[in-house]
Amino acid sequence: MQQRGYMSGFGNEFATEAIEGTLPIGRNSPQKVAHGLYAEQLTGTAFTAPRGSNRRSWLYRIRPAAMHGPFQPLPGNGRFHNDFGDGPVTPDQLRWDPLPMPADDASTDFLDGLFTMAGNGGPAAMTGMGVHLYAANRSMEGRFFYDADGELLVVPQYGRLRIATELGVLEVEPQEIAVIPRGVRFRVELPDGAARGYVCENFGALLKLPDLGPIGSNGLANPRDFLTPEARYEDAEGDYELVAKFQGHLWRADLGHSPLDVVGWHGNYAPYKYDLRRFNAIGSISYDHPDPSIFLVLHSASDTPGTSNIDFAIFPPRWLVAQDTFRPPWFHRNIASEFMGLVHGAYDAKAEGFVPGGASLHNCMTGHGPDAATFDKASAADLSRPDVVTDTMAFMFESRAVIRPTEQALEAAHRQRGYQACWAGLHRNFTAS
Ligand SMILES: [Fe+2]
Repeated sequence: MQQRGYMSGFGNEFATEAIEGTLPIGRNSPQKVAHGLYAEQLTGTAFTAPRGSNRRSWLYRIRPAAMHGPFQPLPGNGRFHNDFGDGPVTPDQLRWDPLPMPADDASTDFLDGLFTMAGNGGPAAMTGMGVHLYAANRSMEGRFFYDADGELLVVPQYGRLRIATELGVLEVEPQEIAVIPRGVRFRVELPDGAARGYVCENFGALLKLPDLGPIGSNGLANPRDFLTPEARYEDAEGDYELVAKFQGHLWRADLGHSPLDVVGWHGNYAPYKYDLRRFNAIGSISYDHPDPSIFLVLHSASDTPGTSNIDFAIFPPRWLVAQDTFRPPWFHRNIASEFMGLVHGAYDAKAEGFVPGGASLHNCMTGHGPDAATFDKASAADLSRPDVVTDTMAFMFESRAVIRPTEQALEAAHRQRGYQACWAGLHRNFTAS
């Protein structure tokens, strides 16, 4: 069923107005816009990007985005940044328990609750990604945020988010994702009072759906399941704060009105949401566990064809039917680097220790795979019957470049310092005869 207040499709040319007659006909910027609004273009790709990848929207708003006070550095807790260091980086397998919820009652909003775990590249180079967690227990009040450094892929794990943006409102719950384009101003409200999750900050090319090759014209994430909000505006004046993330640092400016004052907009550069439970999972019906690229939801392309800046893959509920095969993910080492999280249930390559809200990082050529308990169970499993994994939703932010853990992530109390022990119980089973 179509949800109210959304339009479906991925990167479509949308047109939406909260007051009838707002959108100009036949031109983008007429001499006078209806209802005394200002016309403003927001571009997310180069002006001359090929038509198929060109993204921009026209916003018709009460005041232009230029109206705010001077920016000054935002005093804060310093946990949200893009300082991934340039010194030695450990090749160890790393894993964390969930980020603890804020200790005080209603003390931390989404912005203050962000905690940078890892990343690569940076906003200056416009390539790479930042990996962040958030744990918050109050709505953003009187403040708005935009990230000039990258688009934000938000993966809630606990609690719903109501993300009020310039272009409309996204309501997302665990097992859904939201993507907020670079530069779009927004406020995050917490309908459940508390929330926790993951954020991938994409410094590179915009996230897009992968090509499907021999899979054909359907499957994986289907375009019509992506929902973009309809226009909704606030006509409010007061003492507000605008926070910007610009070149890895946070800045604040006074703002005398709500920036969510867009009465109508049209274009294809807009926030969107997607329900991961709608993913059409495809897998082996003969033998072997396919490469994780078969679970790709969205990716950010790099300048090398077939090699992503970021792959966002999920491991949803699915049937396992392959024969004469080790059914869980195998042992492996990849050139790609993998940051994993778990939104719901359990992950089928780990018996314990990887819990919802937790995270793991396996970097380039670092050996990893099923733990000893999972290996023993899968090696002895009865393959004459299909197996079904029902209670799970894991995901991966994968990158072509090494994902460098931050100092605060390595030193965090919630890091599992004994993680490598999960492979210590693997027996030497070799016999030459
Ligand atoms: Fe892996």
